[in-house]
Amino acid sequence: MRIYECADYRAMSRQAANIISAQVIMKPECVLGLATGSTPIGVYDQLVEWYKKKDLSFLRVRSVNLDEYRGLSSTHEQSYRYFMQTHLFDRVDIQPENTHVPNGLAADPDAECARYDQVIQDLGGIDLQLLGMGRNGHIGFNEPSDVFVMGTHLVNLTESTIEANKRFFASEADVPRQALTMGIMHIMQAKKILVVVSGEDKAEAVAKAFTGPVTPQVPASILQIHPDVVLVGDKAALVHLDRKGVIEL
Ligand code: GLP
Repeated sequence: MRIYECADYRAMSRQAANIISAQVIMKPECVLGLATGSTPIGVYDQLVEWYKKKDLSFLRVRSVNLDEYRGLSSTHEQSYRYFMQTHLFDRVDIQPENTHVPNGLAADPDAECARYDQVIQDLGGIDLQLLGMGRNGHIGFNEPSDVFVMGTHLVNLTESTIEANKRFFASEADVPRQALTMGIMHIMQAKKILVVVSGEDKAEAVAKAFTGPVTPQVPASILQIHPDVVLVGDKAALVHLDRKGVIEL
C-alpha cells in the first residue's frame, strides 16, 4: 500500500485527482468506481478544472457509484445520483448512459441489487475505485457487521452513520434508514483502490482500518489485503499511522 500525506484538504484533493486523471489518460474507456460524501468533493472540483482546461476528457469513461439511499429519487438534493450530477457528471463530458448509480426508488430492492451486480459484471469490473471512509470504518455503505457481504445489498444504516450524515438533512428524522450499496467483493475486485481521508475525526478509523486486525467490524480493514491500494490523506487524518512508509507531499 502507498500512503501519501498531504499538507491540507486542497493538496489531498489535487493528489487524488492526479491519480484518477492518470487512470483516465492511460485508459480513456476505463471503469471508474465513484464515491460520494464530503471528502471527494474537492477531487471532483479539481477534475472539472482540468476538464475545462482540456487536459482531461471523460467522453469514453464508464462509471459505477458505490451506493444510494433507499427511498430518495434522483432529483432529491441529498440523493447520491443528484450529488454525482451536480459535482461531476453535469460539469464534464461523461455520457449519461455510461454513468451508473443504484436506483434508490426500486420497488424490489433485491432485484435492483442483482441488476447492479450485473451492470458491474457487464462493464468487466472496476479499474479504479475511489473510496471515502465513514467514521466507523464503513466503505460505501458496508457498515460494521459480523460478516463481509459480497454483492450489492440493502443495508440498515447504523446510528453512527445516521448521526454523521444528518448534517446534510433538515433533521435526523429525514435521514433515510436504509441504503443500497455495492458489496465488498466488487470493491475488492477493483484493479486499483484510491482512498481519500481528511480531518481528525477520521484519524481513529484510518488507524483501525490500516493497522488493526482485518475484520467486518471495521469494513475498510479488508483493504489491507488488496494488492494495489493508495491512501491519500491530510496530516490530521493520518496522524496515528506509523511515519515509516508515508510519502509526504
Ligand atoms: C457516506 C458514504 C460513504 C462515505 C462516507 C463518509 O456514508 N456512503 O461512501 O465515505 O459517507 O463521508 P464524508 O466524506 O462526508 O465523511
